Amino acid sequence: MASGEVYRAVAVLGRGAVAPDAPILTGDDLGVLRGDGVFESLHIRDGQPWLLEDHLARMARSAAGLGLELPDRVALTELTGQALAGWPRKREGVMRLVCTRGREDGDQVTVFATVADVPRAVLHGRHHGVAVLTASLGFRADARQQAPWLLGGAKTVSYAVNMASLRWAASHGADDVLWLSAEGYCLEAPTSTLVWLVGGRLCTVPSERTGILAGTTARWLLRHADRVGYEAGEAMVTPAELAAAEGAWLLSSVRGVAEIRTLDAVPVGSAPPTVRLREFLGFSGPPA
Ligand SMILES: Cc1ncc(COP(=O)(O)O)c(C=O)c1O
Repeated sequence: MASGEVYRAVAVLGRGAVAPDAPILTGDDLGVLRGDGVFESLHIRDGQPWLLEDHLARMARSAAGLGLELPDRVALTELTGQALAGWPRKREGVMRLVCTRGREDGDQVTVFATVADVPRAVLHGRHHGVAVLTASLGFRADARQQAPWLLGGAKTVSYAVNMASLRWAASHGADDVLWLSAEGYCLEAPTSTLVWLVGGRLCTVPSERTGILAGTTARWLLRHADRVGYEAGEAMVTPAELAAAEGAWLLSSVRGVAEIRTLDAVPVGSAPPTVRLREFLGFSGPPA
């Protein structure tokens, strides 16, 4: 492989490892036609997916929300091993584990796993922080609670709105978006969870109440917050309160922790402990 090229690996359920450019979907796959499927993105470190059990548990919850028959944990775990068989142990990566509803007239889900390098822009945000703009989703923070068809908390492959949000941020010179509810509460980012530090307490937005995705990275951090000297909690927060916090970050399995440097061009945080959190989460690879 030429240096600078993105390194990839792919495995398909029932087929095992395949060439990275092998065809794995048919044109009538409902994952492609309808965005009807679920997925997980996992951080690959030391040749293994980090927090695999948490991701599989969330994937099962997402699949249940869509009424999708997800293969069992053993089969999915085996598939992740097949995708990683040729992956260099020391190389950081991102795995996508995907399950779609399968072919339009079929009765079998399509399941595959890919592994690739972490994108350079993500590494840059991890080490240099991000400029974030707020953008309203237009519904109240509790709107998804009584509306299971809105698939609150499910990680589906329908990410067109998420990607459009990021393009909108880029077109306005920013790196990311923080979605707001109609009444102005911060919810989450299109591919990350919001965490902030106030009064020695690391906080995140409650997922049950708001229907945001329950982030595995943020949950892990808050579960172990006492090991870095903080308490942990859940709260609703406004952009103004966030700007006045000691620090605020976007967390995900791929980016780890990216400091929010500005929110709507207003500087955020006073001496935020970003390096400490990044190292504690194990995302201390070489700066981009
Ligand atoms: C909408 C959304 N929120 C939050 C997250 C962060 O979740 P995790 O830490 O499990 O990667 C992601 C990324 O998976 C996401 O897509």
